Amino acid sequence: MNLLAIESSCDETAAAVVTDRLEVLASVVASQDELHRRFGGVVPEIASRAHVERILPVIDEALAKAGLALGDLDAVAVANTPGLAGSLLVGLAAAKTICLAMGIPLVAVNHLQAHIYACRLAAGEDVFPCVGLIASGGHTSLYRCAGPLDFKLLGATIDDAAGEAFDKVANMLGLAYPGGPSIQRAAEHGDPRAYRFPRAFLKDENRLDFSFSGLKTAVRYAIAGPGKPDFARLDLPENRVADLAAAFQEAVVDCLVDKAFLCLRKTGLATLCVGGGVAANRRLRERLDEEARRRNVRLCIAPLALSTDNAVMGAIAIERYKAGKIEPLDLDVYPGVVRQPA
Ligand code: KG4
Ligand code: ZN
Repeated sequence: MNLLAIESSCDETAAAVVTDRLEVLASVVASQDELHRRFGGVVPEIASRAHVERILPVIDEALAKAGLALGDLDAVAVANTPGLAGSLLVGLAAAKTICLAMGIPLVAVNHLQAHIYACRLAAGEDVFPCVGLIASGGHTSLYRCAGPLDFKLLGATIDDAAGEAFDKVANMLGLAYPGGPSIQRAAEHGDPRAYRFPRAFLKDENRLDFSFSGLKTAVRYAIAGPGKPDFARLDLPENRVADLAAAFQEAVVDCLVDKAFLCLRKTGLATLCVGGGVAANRRLRERLDEEARRRNVRLCIAPLALSTDNAVMGAIAIERYKAGKIEPLDLDVYPGVVRQPA
């Protein structure tokens, strides 16, 4: 079986061709980083318009790389939740059109579950049951994942996502978008103990939630001084930027690591899968690795290319297809984090 998977939930236009044996025949990702850079974050309307321009060339390229024509496809999968409404709609319209034209089934993909499935692709099906930590630009959440299609939300950010905090703090520090890689680079030469930033809920063993907006504000005050929340970008010396980046990164990493391992203790599970763009962070990987060794936990972090948004992780649709979960062609998008209608 050849599955075409389409991903357009945020600012990456992606298509992949995967077989039912989970062989990846092609993967194409067209990044929009350049378009959003000068705004310091994703502008939804720009993202949807860019998806419209790119979706067909990206699908064509994936098919060409796989050496297949539309007639060789057996199903099309598309991420329809969660994400930016306009962005999701572009992928969904493309997927429906191919399904209608070729008379093949449409399979829905939950983008967050797909991020965890990226770990299963890398590490094998015995990663389940596991705790799933997703840390991306739009989401930061913890799941109990009993199987590839059985996810229960146990905790989430009550305000900003971790990746969003990276992007906004990078902007404050005059570093380029996307903020994650820029802060990671700047932090290499910084002292994480130079500033002591808040770590929300860290001492609360009853909460598996996250909060990063107070941390963002703390960085802002550290840059501008107390009582001066508004500042035109100050010309910060390089060593201060490095210290601020390192201390901020350490605070985010502390929260993610602490809550992920609290979740493992509470659920009694022994495997941790980590996905989403922030999972690309080197310091986070290092700390998770240390902690996993210490606590005898199996750690599966998606490889870099599968951590950030891509369509290969849409291979989770093979599981849905096998479970008979085919969608009607009036399928809609669900921008917020809601349960996929059965
Ligand atoms: O999963 P993703 O590609 O898209 C969403 O679904 O949001 O995640 C993008 C986010 C951005 O906020 C970006 O700054 C962050 O992932 N990111 C990182 C790193 N690489 C990407 N954050 C920290 N460290 C990194 N190395
Ligand atoms: Zn994502």
